Amino acid sequence: MNILFLGDIVGRDGRDIIFRYLPKIKEDEKIDFTIANAENSAHGKGITIKLYNQFIKAGIDALTLGNHSYSKKEIIDHLKECELLIAPYNFEPYIHQGFKIFDVCGIRLCVCNLLGEAFMMPSRMSPFAAMDEILDKACADIYFVDLHAEATAEKILFGQYFKDRITAVCGTHTHVQTADERLMGNMAYISDVGMNGVYDSVIGRDIEEMSRAHIMMEKTRYTIASGPAILSGVVINIDTAQKIATSIKRIQIRPTSVV
Ligand code: FE2
Repeated sequence: MNILFLGDIVGRDGRDIIFRYLPKIKEDEKIDFTIANAENSAHGKGITIKLYNQFIKAGIDALTLGNHSYSKKEIIDHLKECELLIAPYNFEPYIHQGFKIFDVCGIRLCVCNLLGEAFMMPSRMSPFAAMDEILDKACADIYFVDLHAEATAEKILFGQYFKDRITAVCGTHTHVQTADERLMGNMAYISDVGMNGVYDSVIGRDIEEMSRAHIMMEKTRYTIASGPAILSGVVINIDTAQKIATSIKRIQIRPTSVV
């Protein structure tokens, strides 16, 4: 069984590159289940019901979120309709499901979303305690975790601590793909999957606006970048008989490699 996980989708150009390449990636990689992080999909912060429906229609099977889960307040009124949307289990305040179980290739796949603690907004519990609670509550064959966190060391520690109990840990939030994908025992791991967003940007945000805000110290409004985008994801192979990960492969399509 092959799982495709796409990193943070940032703004319109990030959405468009997903819509453009997803069918081909799914076919080429023989993907059985697709997960994407959509917490930055609506103009860089949050998600709307319209975008949720577009992603599902495009063939994404589950959507995870992060610290911007509810930045677009309208989504809160639609959460009951969004059965495939998974907000972090340890988000404060806890509003929406933190994990969900899917039947895929005859096995029960639990997709979990957690927030890290280091350099992040306060959460209602640590990701370690939260994962222990999920493992107590959920009855699944394999566990996929989107750990939405800033600090690489926290993500690696999480992976090492849970490697015998869960099947895949993929980091999100930094928007920069790390080259440390590996198996930790029988668990697939990568510190950050990277973003789907504008390549010439500051993690998806407009360079000029960021310069004015952080160098010239001007009061500016958050501005999403526009232009050619990078696509970032990973493909994880699962041995469904043994219920273990057997490989993790990075996928990246940069504007310069677009033909
Ligand atoms: Fe984030």
